[in-house]
Order: sequence, then structure tokens, then C-alpha cells
Amino acid sequence: MSKVQVAMKVNGQPVEALVEPRLLLIHFLREDLNLTGPHIGCDTSHCGACTVDLDGRSVKACTVFTVQANGADILTIEGMAPPGGALHALQEGFREMHGLQCGFCTPGMITRAYRLLQEIPNPSEDEIRAGIAGNLCRCTGYQNIIKAIQFAAAKINGVPFKEAAE
Ligand code: FES
Ligand code: FES
Repeated sequence: MSKVQVAMKVNGQPVEALVEPRLLLIHFLREDLNLTGPHIGCDTSHCGACTVDLDGRSVKACTVFTVQANGADILTIEGMAPPGGALHALQEGFREMHGLQCGFCTPGMITRAYRLLQEIPNPSEDEIRAGIAGNLCRCTGYQNIIKAIQFAAAKINGVPFKEAAE
């Protein structure tokens, strides 16, 4: 199969490659760029473990061909933390609020939450639940993920985090 030239920005770095038209973005990221944070958790586009940010939208990288990402600006979990070793507020929130157990869903969950907080800077619990509806977690029961996102929202907004009573 003849290959197609693509160029995009991934985590701020320019990337160029020759790819087969059938190559899914998740495989390009994981196998060609060695960015293994985005996971593959299903083959039905349901789990959201592969979520990345593409031109300001959350996308499931298993549903996008690499050629469709030509010219795009992509952010994966690997590009989430600011340079210098600090964690992103969401990473800190997931750590502080115990928002993960096995961690398999976490890169996709954080990447989705990153975009959710751009869309709704101070989301209610219902808005968080709706916002992460495309990301499945089989371990946590979601409660601590919601707290983690609320923690991050408070930190980003510069207000004290108040844990809601359960
Ligand atoms: S791998 Fe499950 S939605 Fe992409
Ligand atoms: S922490 Fe295990 S799937 Fe979410």
C-alpha cells in the first residue's frame, strides 16, 4: 500500500512521517512515536483509554486515521506536565484524591478532563460525570476521579478546594 506523508505537532514537537492510509492514530502515537501513555482498552471505541487532545477537542485516537491528523496539534498525557518537573494540576489531583487504582484509564481520563476544564472551568459533579462519560474506569467507581477533577479545577481557578460530603 502506498504511503502518505503527514506532518503534525505532538506535544509541541513537529513530527513528520510516511504512513499507510489505514494506520490508526493510536498506533502511530504508540508504535511510531513511542508515546505509550494513550492506551488501547477495547476494539469498539467505547473505553476512552486512547483519548488525546486534537486541535482543541478530545478524540479517541483509535477512531482517527493518522492521515486525518495531518496538520493537527495533538496533546497526549506525555505533554501534560509543564517543563521543569512539576505535575499538571490534574495529575496532582489524581494523586492527592486517589483518582486511580490500576491506572489503565488514567492517561485518557486526565487528557479528557484537561479539555473538559477548558470547556467548563468550574464544572459541577453532574457536568464532570457527563464530561467523562466516554471514558470508562473499571476500578475506582468514579467518585475519586470526580474529586480529582474538582481538586484540579480549584487549583487552576486559584480557589480553595472543598471536598463535597459523600
Ligand atoms: S481503545 Fe477503547 S475507545 Fe479507543
Ligand atoms: S484505575 Fe483501573 S481502569 Fe481506571
